[in-house]
Amino acid sequence: MAGSPPPAHDVADLGLAGDGAERIAWAAGQMPVLARIRERFAAQRPLEGVRVACCLHVTAETANLVRTLLGGGATVALCSANPLSVQDDVAAALVARDGVEVRARRGESLDDYAAHVLTLLAAPAGGPHVTLDDGADLLVTAHVRGGDALAALLGATEETTTGLVRIRRLEGEGKLRCPVVAVNEARTERALNDRHGTGQSALDGIVRASNVLLAGNTIVIVGYGWAGMGVAERARGAGAAVIVCEIDPLRALEARMAGYEVMPALQAAERGDVFVTVTGARAVLRREHFERMKDGALLANAGHFDVELDLEALAEIAAGGVRSVRPLVDEYVLGDGRRLNLLARGRVVNLAAAEGHPAAVMDVSFALQALSVEELVRRRGELSPGVHAVPEALDREVGRLKLEALGVTIDEPPSEGAATSIG
Ligand SMILES: NC(=O)c1ccc[n+]([C@@H]2O[C@H](COP(=O)([O-])OP(=O)(O)OC[C@H]3O[C@@H](n4cnc5c(N)ncnc54)[C@H](O)[C@@H]3O)[C@@H](O)[C@H]2O)c1
Repeated sequence: MAGSPPPAHDVADLGLAGDGAERIAWAAGQMPVLARIRERFAAQRPLEGVRVACCLHVTAETANLVRTLLGGGATVALCSANPLSVQDDVAAALVARDGVEVRARRGESLDDYAAHVLTLLAAPAGGPHVTLDDGADLLVTAHVRGGDALAALLGATEETTTGLVRIRRLEGEGKLRCPVVAVNEARTERALNDRHGTGQSALDGIVRASNVLLAGNTIVIVGYGWAGMGVAERARGAGAAVIVCEIDPLRALEARMAGYEVMPALQAAERGDVFVTVTGARAVLRREHFERMKDGALLANAGHFDVELDLEALAEIAAGGVRSVRPLVDEYVLGDGRRLNLLARGRVVNLAAAEGHPAAVMDVSFALQALSVEELVRRRGELSPGVHAVPEALDREVGRLKLEALGVTIDEPPSEGAATSIG
């Protein structure tokens, strides 16, 4: 790449490339599993000639995934799954140092974002062979547009729960035209990314935005799925009293058995100092909840879309006005003078107010992504259109490599017929 002109791009400032390169190298140091895959890809070139389009958070960790795919022989273009998570220096480094077509600027408008998605699908050399999504925007848009956007597509991967909901809807309507690997549902991904990654980084975002002390405060977690479970665990570890709100009786039971208070959101509204939504559903905290909250309550969302807090309703009841009180905190003053503080405009708080999942967590997610792309290419034409699980062997291999990187060894399972079973 050195000396050659940069590829087509839309990034904030190519002058930031040096800082971005440092940030990427720092993350690489915590991504040993991906490094192992990158070495093998460089030797075997399993992605030679493959065009990959990615709509992922444009962060240092993603840059390491992109470099792994490049090393395997792919051409990669990248736009951002969230305008607030873009690391402009990383975007610059990928363009200037790696020759990647990046179309992402921190804070870009939704119109610019939509244009970037379309540009990636209409690459001059033909549409992508593989799409990598975090929220399904590339894949869903490709299906809406059809034509060139779909013509070359041999498969896709999806990184998050909300994206899979959209993709399964397409599948249910009989419209899904390619195999999609549900990276998000791999066992290693669930355990590390959704649970430990979201758990730590959502709280990190809340603390960075507000500087709140978690110890001694009551934190209300709405949604006790994999991600909510992680936030609850970490909040308890930080000394907060945790209340869980759920609509699924089994999940609610799990939360109760884990020792949390469980109650309806209307009741929790009066008790919480900090509220975190993490459901994947719309308007889980609404007007009736806001109206009961204490003065000074903090509202954050860790779900994928900024729809979990009903922001229209919040604006409607803010008779005393809305003002920005810190870079990532907007204060809504209710008619009686109570103040509710919205963090990161209700967007996914660990990305909008912090750095997303730690690199050590994304190591596993992106190892799964890289191996899933390889699998889609290797089995081109064999997999039926539909959502496919990450193959068990691949999931176990990533778990094994991560353990190895952590210096942990475990026993081998007993061989068939060994005398460990009873009867
Ligand atoms: N911030 C991140 O980095 C991150 C990481 C992983 C997942 N996510 C997002 O977080 C959301 C949840 O993901 P997950 O993997 O935990 O999903 P999940 O399906 O495992 O859990 C969601 C839970 O929310 C509950 N729920 C739904 N509506 C509710 C309501 N009105 N009140 C109370 N509970 C309700 C469901 O019963 C379910 O138990 C999704 O939008 C996902 O994309 C974000």
